[in-house]
Amino acid sequence: MHEYLNYKFEDTADFISTFDEMPLWSASFGLLLFKHLKLAPNLKVLDIGSGAGFPLLELAQRLGTSSTCYGLDPWVNANKRANQKIRNYGITNASIIEGSADNIPFADSSIDLIVSNLGINNFEQPDKVFAECYRVLKPGGRLALTTNLNGHWQEFYDVFADTLVQTGNAKLLSNLTSHQEHRGNVKSISQQFSNAGFSLIVRHADEFKMDFLDGTAFLNHNFIKLGWLASWKALIPENMIKSFFPILEENLNKLAAKSGTLSLTVPMAYIQAEKQ
Ligand SMILES: C[S@@+](CC[C@H](N)C(=O)[O-])C[C@H]1O[C@@H](n2cnc3c(N)ncnc32)[C@H](O)[C@@H]1O
Repeated sequence: MHEYLNYKFEDTADFISTFDEMPLWSASFGLLLFKHLKLAPNLKVLDIGSGAGFPLLELAQRLGTSSTCYGLDPWVNANKRANQKIRNYGITNASIIEGSADNIPFADSSIDLIVSNLGINNFEQPDKVFAECYRVLKPGGRLALTTNLNGHWQEFYDVFADTLVQTGNAKLLSNLTSHQEHRGNVKSISQQFSNAGFSLIVRHADEFKMDFLDGTAFLNHNFIKLGWLASWKALIPENMIKSFFPILEENLNKLAAKSGTLSLTVPMAYIQAEKQ
């Protein structure tokens, strides 16, 4: 009882290494998730694609110990990090399972709430994952996800398309279009929920802007290199990469010079549904 009264902050390197780690990108979507997700007591919760522990560990703490939370992710090093946070924060109601949401290691009708921040819609087989979520949820159970939508970084992709044309590569525009369309919109994602049998679909769309001084700052940003650059390089032939990207960067810088910054739009959505 009142265990928190015994808490003593220990300023160790191990603790601090997990204190300030939260990608701003994930946080932007996480804020949308927590804005719309209704909390309740005594839940068995699953976070799909929990990565380094978000939103799993925040949710476990906000729900408190009447609920038990599990994170499911195949990424070994991210799971290690999540476990380190569980130890450092003293969380007793969360644990990590290494595995894929294509094959959720829980019995039918055993989970009350599934969440996924920037997860399911990025997976290779989202339809299989939606079906698995439906299987493991109890009747009345909820699946709530946040995702970026088709149209994110639109200003960047417009310059990318112009640069393809400018460099005589208009034939590659269809690669760019399918890359952009790979990301769903609210309607197509709602349809994935319905196809899996879900009903009572709740949708909240929103957007935010990310400003960079210019294209050079954007392309050199750690998160852009980590999360996006490989997929953009794959849109053009290997032997053109070294000549194409400097022109793209210059065009982004010209756009930024017009208004003082490169301002990019990120549309996003919270979508939640129930198994009835
Ligand atoms: C964009 S990250 C989001 C991580 C975290 N939820 C966040 O908000 O920062 C997507 C995560 O999904 C995981 N993932 C990819 N395929 C998966 C699958 N089939 N089942 C479960 N997780 C998967 C990745 O390993 C990664 O941790």
